[in-house]
Amino acid sequence: SFGLKTEFMGRSIHYEEKVDSTQKIAHRLATDGAVEGTVVVAEEQTLGRGRLDRRWHSPKYTGIWMSIILKPNLPMHKAPQLTLVTAVAVVQAIEDVTGLLPQIKWPNDILIDGKKVTGILTELQADADRINAIIIGIGINVNQKLEDFPEDILHTATSLSVETGQVISRAGLMQAVFARLEKLYLTYLKDGFYPIKLLWEGYALSIGKEIIARTVTGDIAGKALGITEDGVLKIQQEDGEIRHVYSADIIINE
Ligand code: BTN
Repeated sequence: SFGLKTEFMGRSIHYEEKVDSTQKIAHRLATDGAVEGTVVVAEEQTLGRGRLDRRWHSPKYTGIWMSIILKPNLPMHKAPQLTLVTAVAVVQAIEDVTGLLPQIKWPNDILIDGKKVTGILTELQADADRINAIIIGIGINVNQKLEDFPEDILHTATSLSVETGQVISRAGLMQAVFARLEKLYLTYLKDGFYPIKLLWEGYALSIGKEIIARTVTGDIAGKALGITEDGVLKIQQEDGEIRHVYSADIIINE
């Protein structure tokens, strides 16, 4: 069943069999005045987009490939916080539905046993410094079998089905994501980022560990201390200096 437990999240759903990218469609809908909480979901994406210009493997019927439109009245620099709000919501939803205990790798990879099960891609429509719409793309590997993963991600990716040995209801999980996200988003708008930051750090994989942040301008190595109020990663280098990282791939030295 598809019992909706939300006020606005997922109330308007655009369901597609096959698209290039749900992000693209959601951008268009947002421009055309879609209401907050509108969702675009597809069974299959032929050109799923990942972070840093990568592709997101989105084979048919096995995952949740969706984009959610939010319209918070916030300045642009707060957008990264919403990515972290979403990551926490998805972790909670996965816990609710499967009992698995996922972890978050900054900024927004969700891992189980060190393997990636979910990616989140946040894109903005902004006017000067204000957010007009934020398009949150969520890709969750749900019912893929191991052999369904392409060679290049075979050892770094997993699915909820691989991890539980069961077939997971995608509709049920989507519903759980809507419920968790709506609740956390409203908390965030009312009480600010601090309560979210605490939750996020509780799920974070890299905090307290030695990491390398691979940024476009070079590597930053040191101990991951946590995140700032803006959701920016803080790394303490060996020389004691604390660096702020806005965008990077994180390598964790185990
Ligand atoms: C990442 O690189 O980890 C982010 C992956 C985000 C994938 C999702 S799937 C639904 C939405 N549509 C896209 O084209 N990408 C996002």
